[in-house]
Amino acid sequence: MDAINYITTGFRTSPFYISAILLLLLLVSVFAIRVFGNHCAESSEPWELPNWKGIPLIGNTIQYIVDNSSFITRTTLVLQARDIVQFRLGPIKTYLVSGPQNVQALFRKSASVSGDKFLLMTMESLMCYTKEDLTKFANDKTGRLAVPKEGTAAPQDGTRYWHGMHHHMKTLAQITSTSVLTDKFLEFFDERIQAYPLGEPATVNLFNFMRTKMAGAAIRALAGDALFARVGEDNLLDAFWAYDTIVINLLYALPKWMDPKPWKIRAHAFDLCLEWLQRDFDAVEDPESERNDVDWHPVMGLRFIREFLTWYKKEGLSDNTRAGHFLGFLLGLNGNTIPIAGWALMEIILDRPLWKAVQEEAESAFTVNPTTGKRNLDIQKMMGLPILQSVYVETLRVHVSVNVTREVVGETATIAGYKLPRNSLIQAPTRIAHFNEKAWATADHSAAEFWPYRHIKYAEVQVENGEVTKKPEFVLAAGPNDFFPYGGGVSICPGRHFAKQEIMATIAIMVSTFDMEMVEWVSFDGKTKSNRPAQENPKYSGSASMPPDRDMKVRWTRRI
Ligand SMILES: *[C@@H]1O[C@H](CO)[C@@H](O)[C@H](O)[C@H]1NC(C)=O
Ligand SMILES: *[C@@H]1O[C@H](CO)[C@@H](O)[C@H](O)[C@H]1NC(C)=O
Repeated sequence: MDAINYITTGFRTSPFYISAILLLLLLVSVFAIRVFGNHCAESSEPWELPNWKGIPLIGNTIQYIVDNSSFITRTTLVLQARDIVQFRLGPIKTYLVSGPQNVQALFRKSASVSGDKFLLMTMESLMCYTKEDLTKFANDKTGRLAVPKEGTAAPQDGTRYWHGMHHHMKTLAQITSTSVLTDKFLEFFDERIQAYPLGEPATVNLFNFMRTKMAGAAIRALAGDALFARVGEDNLLDAFWAYDTIVINLLYALPKWMDPKPWKIRAHAFDLCLEWLQRDFDAVEDPESERNDVDWHPVMGLRFIREFLTWYKKEGLSDNTRAGHFLGFLLGLNGNTIPIAGWALMEIILDRPLWKAVQEEAESAFTVNPTTGKRNLDIQKMMGLPILQSVYVETLRVHVSVNVTREVVGETATIAGYKLPRNSLIQAPTRIAHFNEKAWATADHSAAEFWPYRHIKYAEVQVENGEVTKKPEFVLAAGPNDFFPYGGGVSICPGRHFAKQEIMATIAIMVSTFDMEMVEWVSFDGKTKSNRPAQENPKYSGSASMPPDRDMKVRWTRRI
């Protein structure tokens, strides 16, 4: 849900101004190294990544920006042998870390490292916070936890903004929030599937289906009925996905007057959220009355949304900030789940034995109501299906790309036995951890490969007639700190439980409802035939799940 929390620092890559940025970086680096460089000659420093192509000072920065995938490939190799390396990102000392202990250290409660700076960046650029409201957060140094950070006092107006935000976010991770959200999602997703008449073949662009029907059902489950009723489902979805594609542009944006397009796209999606907030949400008389105290409200959505936006209002945060944060929630809700469910289904469709295995498992998790004849998905049972779980984890492993980033805010922070100086950055890219051969490779399947059974172990069980059969069991192929698609620590994605249920349920429903076969690969907009399969869209590297850059045209028939 809160993937945007983890979007990290970096620089935009449009060719227009890349040379301007590089020149600036060069100047700043030369200056910074002059000033600080001489102090760094001591021995107790992590190994330094050689500069890319031998270009002094800024070689690595250039590769980081213009060729992120080669940078990752290079550093992944390096980090097989050591668990921390340093390089300069412009003038900033940056450390890449890997290995379970270091990742764990990064996620540990700590006064010396913080991700707040990056969250503030996303609040400004993605979530449209007003300057005034950003200042309120920036001035609150008391942290997210219940007890204020040592030596800090509450801000002048008495509100602990970070703590309040964090406290509300955490409620999203609770069992009741998750199960209400999942139930509503299943109800609305089913409506969208019923629109395909039983027994009639249809040709569909699969990823486009996920981006409209899966996202439509999820947004309605989170926000209630009034949002689509007010601004139109198709209209909102178009505006939302346009916004999703320019998230990276916004984060590393040029001023509006130089490159107005991303800002216009953001404004359009934002306006729709604001319209709903002001005309529907805020028009509810007394949102905190007992009558409105329900788990899911048709106008104010899930309890979490109602409580969050009401709290923001009570604390005097502006409508713009509230609508903008809501837009951020939509991004968190869909930015990871849709690409992951899409990739998982495409893999399953391309592999007939896998399709059969997942279908057989999925069918075992449905019960049929004897009176109404309606199928019902038993979520608890589904969550325990081994092959489905393995496919889910493997898809996250391979297709999530998030740079978990922290800033050293204390005097120093100790990682991997080194004292890292204040203001330096520490990054743990999932790309590096999730592709670590030592952690993930099996005898026959390298970490680079999508292998749907990677997380399956076979246990021998005795069946009645004395025969022994092998029963698949789900076992994560590496340690828990080798796998962190949802980040970790205080800022771990609060929507992770829902995301897992939503993705697994979508797969289970699709494979058990339709007979399906691939027709051909098509362009992302579905308009032309493509001569190659989908690959990851590199634009999303480091910020979220990587969506496919092509769509899969399938022919399906609803059979249930
Ligand atoms: C994520 O990190 C990689 C290097 O580890 C870098 O090349 C890429 O640009 C980063 N992405 C973002 C969005 O910061
Ligand atoms: C990563 O590099 C690719 C080119 O290799 C580029 O298209 C993409 O925009 C870059 N992504 C980020 C987040 O910088």
